[in-house]
Amino acid sequence: MSLYVVTGGAGFIGSHLVEALLHEGHRVRIIDNFSTGKRERIPGNADVDVVEQDLRDFDAVRSALRGADGVFHLAALPSVQYSIEHPRETNAANITATVHVLEAARDAGVRRVVYSASSSAYGDQPSPQLREDMKPNPMSPYGLQKYVGEEYCKVFSLCHGIQTVSLRYFNVYGPRMADEGAYVTVIAIFLRQRKAGEVLTITGDGTQTRDFTHVRDVVRANMLTMVSPKVGKGEVMNIGAGNNRSVNDVARAVGGPVTYLPARIEPHDTLADITRAQELIGWVPTVAFVDGIRELLTLHGIAVPEMTETARV
Ligand SMILES: NC(=O)c1ccc[n+]([C@@H]2O[C@H](COP(=O)([O-])OP(=O)(O)OC[C@H]3O[C@@H](n4cnc5c(N)ncnc54)[C@H](O)[C@@H]3O)[C@@H](O)[C@H]2O)c1
Repeated sequence: MSLYVVTGGAGFIGSHLVEALLHEGHRVRIIDNFSTGKRERIPGNADVDVVEQDLRDFDAVRSALRGADGVFHLAALPSVQYSIEHPRETNAANITATVHVLEAARDAGVRRVVYSASSSAYGDQPSPQLREDMKPNPMSPYGLQKYVGEEYCKVFSLCHGIQTVSLRYFNVYGPRMADEGAYVTVIAIFLRQRKAGEVLTITGDGTQTRDFTHVRDVVRANMLTMVSPKVGKGEVMNIGAGNNRSVNDVARAVGGPVTYLPARIEPHDTLADITRAQELIGWVPTVAFVDGIRELLTLHGIAVPEMTETARV
């Protein structure tokens, strides 16, 4: 049994990770300022300790990390648009807070920090299949800030000997994902529209693709990373489903009539090359897209449409 700190444990992904750690018999300490996190996401369990603090307060982070065996650092302000409008605030939440976590982890003798990075570090690339050895090309303060966090992890491993690993997530979806606000995924928008009996709104021609990754696969990647003997020196790994779906596919899987709106400026395709995670932590995604959507439809009380073969592949 270990004591793990989960920053952002009241968030979408963090709350699933907390559940999984408890399930494995660990003790968990959550640090969250509840800016986007929700109390109702935290399981009521004697082995969870909730510290309501802001990571921008270094003393609070230092005291919260005392005695921890490992830290999963998920807390962030994860919104591209918000970061464009509020570069200073998001810089503090996404970079300064990460430095606080790393320095406090060093002071507390924490064995390993697993950092939640983002595929947004890639930005525009010449090929849609994204590999970790490509030169990052962030196109928003958020993408840059998440990338700087990775580099800080690497430098702390180099200079202070603390073990760090960065996981670049691709479009995470699943139960409890945000259904409002700036970081809402197309899946959540379609579910909300379908539930309300509205037409699904597709921007552009719907052929743009995303590598949608189920939250339970992201959680498993975190847990494998914390214990894998092959990592700890600031390695960066893609955590994506490794196949991509068009927005039209998503609309078919959710079901109901659609309408098309003018296109937005956004990358046309994202697709993770997940070879490195397979090699280093033995991780492969296990939740098929159709099953992930089916589960969400059922959770929302929406009739599951006859899936097309395209959606099933
Ligand atoms: N959801 C995705 O598709 C996705 C994709 C790539 C990367 N990520 C990364 O994964 C992590 C988790 O994302 P999520 O979708 O669960 O986000 P989320 O917004 O649901 O969770 C973030 C949590 O951090 C907390 N928080 C924010 N700033 C804080 C601060 N200064 N001090 C303390 N707590 C703070 C929030 O209250 C919230 O509970 C983030 O680091 C994000 O950048 C997410």
